[in-house]
Amino acid sequence: MLRVLIFIFIVNNINGQPDHHYECDVRAFPEGFLFGTATSSYQTEGAWNKSGKTENIWDHLTHTQPYEILDHSNGDVADDSYHLYKRDIEMMRELGVHFHRFSISWTRILPTSFPDEINQDGVDYYNNLINEMLKYGIEPMVTLYHWELPQKLQLMGGWTNPNIINWFADFARVAFELFGDRVKYWVTINEPYQICNEGYGDRNMAPMLNVKGVAEYICTKNLLLAHATAYHMYDREYRSKYKGVVFITCSASWYEPESQDHYGAAWESNQFTWAQHLHPIFSHTGDYPRIMKEKIAAKSKEQGFFRSRLIEFTPEEIKFVKGSSDALGLNHYSTTLVYKNESVKHMYESPSFMDDLGVGMASVNDRQGGGMVDDVPWGFYNLLTTIREEYGNPPIYITENGFSTKAGLVDDDRVTYYRGYLSAMLDAIEEGSDIQAYTAWSLMDNFEWKMGYTERFGLYEVDYNSSDRTRTARKSAYVYKEIVRTGTLDMCYAPDLFMPISIDEGH
Ligand code: BGC
Repeated sequence: MLRVLIFIFIVNNINGQPDHHYECDVRAFPEGFLFGTATSSYQTEGAWNKSGKTENIWDHLTHTQPYEILDHSNGDVADDSYHLYKRDIEMMRELGVHFHRFSISWTRILPTSFPDEINQDGVDYYNNLINEMLKYGIEPMVTLYHWELPQKLQLMGGWTNPNIINWFADFARVAFELFGDRVKYWVTINEPYQICNEGYGDRNMAPMLNVKGVAEYICTKNLLLAHATAYHMYDREYRSKYKGVVFITCSASWYEPESQDHYGAAWESNQFTWAQHLHPIFSHTGDYPRIMKEKIAAKSKEQGFFRSRLIEFTPEEIKFVKGSSDALGLNHYSTTLVYKNESVKHMYESPSFMDDLGVGMASVNDRQGGGMVDDVPWGFYNLLTTIREEYGNPPIYITENGFSTKAGLVDDDRVTYYRGYLSAMLDAIEEGSDIQAYTAWSLMDNFEWKMGYTERFGLYEVDYNSSDRTRTARKSAYVYKEIVRTGTLDMCYAPDLFMPISIDEGH
């Protein structure tokens, strides 16, 4: 391993977590480590009603309640990737990435929501995208569900209707049949927490159902069963033929005690949020974390419910969900401080998920970059280490990690963020974490859900005033390219200038 360690020292940050500092160390990623970029369909494709595509829940929300989006925008055109996908692939080639993660818009290939009608124009679009990527040796990593439920299925209850298990499985089958010969990495569902807690138990995401303390738990159970159904289908019917991997992507923020008195609050926050989804799939129990089951059952009883609002799995379902992922897809952005005191008791509506959890939350930094992500690399290290220890070191693909800024090409805060988080990830790898891939969110600026176009996550800036949605590399694109090209992270390297980016030979 190409590694010149000149100087390492470990200091404790305010919360007593180890913080590694490396000076002028060239740190190598493991042999065969994969680097990629990511986008999702609603956030980039545009063409919302072109070539047979029908309405999904984000089309519906942005068109019927535009004031819910910070800048009143929508994804009608977005980055126009439906027409400009070749330029997107050129950018992947400029960066030299090994794979790119994108999602399939359900209603673009199944306009009725069901497999009775397959939209050939939609299929052509994804075939062209996949084939063009493969032409240049870029592996497609395809997410089946990145939040774009057909509006018609939403009218029937969406993820709260148990029929969604079959609806989703049918959609998955169509995708495996159509693209499985060329797609070897399948993400079933992106971020159960955001879908269920933010969309069904709150108003932060479509469909903004906001039936607190009830709908998010119904949604979660159906979602995990839908995921497992698609997983087993692939395993049974496609794996021997196509030899791909199928996994779920969960989001996980790290929750850190505000001070040493609040370890319990931090532990419970980690259990309630990301362990809610990891436990049923990756733990030996195959069930929700015990603390969650106990607390929600007790609260429900106190509140006059006849049974726990957390819908339990049957023994058969536990068996079915347990182990239903070839790897853990992990999206991580940041860390939050948590505490528990008297004031928290009256802080939240009851019933609600936050009331069930019962902790107060505060941000670590004051978001100096102006964007929505706090730059806390040691939280990433703590998360990865905890997952390794708690779940028997599962193979992990980091399927999203990134930083948002306002518009502009010089993005030093993003450069600092990427370098810090990659270094924290290397710390975890060197201590034994089985992390096999890293994905930068995002290849380019895109529609950032309820924040519209006000938050920019792109390695490439997109000019939304130009009709061809001109994409221009930011400084972070150049820095990421160097990391991918060399397979190393040079701890001293901080380019003052960024150079014109071009496609290297062989890409
Ligand atoms: C989502 C992305 C989103 C990103 C930044 C993730 O939760 O998967 O769609 O753009 O975070 O907020």
